[in-house]
Amino acid sequence: MVRVTRRYRFSASHRLHSPQLSGEENRRIYGKCNYPFGHGHNYEIEISVRGPVDPETGLAVNPALLDQLVTERIVRPFDHRDLNTEVPELSEFVPTTENLGRVIRQRLEERWKDTFAGPWPALDTVRIRETDRNIFEVD
Ligand code: NI
Repeated sequence: MVRVTRRYRFSASHRLHSPQLSGEENRRIYGKCNYPFGHGHNYEIEISVRGPVDPETGLAVNPALLDQLVTERIVRPFDHRDLNTEVPELSEFVPTTENLGRVIRQRLEERWKDTFAGPWPALDTVRIRETDRNIFEVD
């Protein structure tokens, strides 16, 4: 079994603000990320898949198929977007990177079987780097 990871990038803006919390609580919990007009991040996502090596191709995953899936489902709809309002699945949630990671994983899982015929490769980990110090993994 081999685990293969590919990296993709997109830039997007967000503002962290929970309607269930008071203004003061929002400022205390989210700090600068609660500033009213939002801010941007250059997100880096790493998609790890695993599977056996195909004896014919020597590959565990067809990178072109993975690229197509991630581009269509994630990079194109998210790049240069406002995550608070332009990603429907996030509109009811605070667009933290925890929630963004869940949505990314969900979006890939929804189309996984249409993209890859057969049982392999399987989606392993979705990792997002929001800043140098903030890295999130969704299993
Ligand atoms: Ni932020």
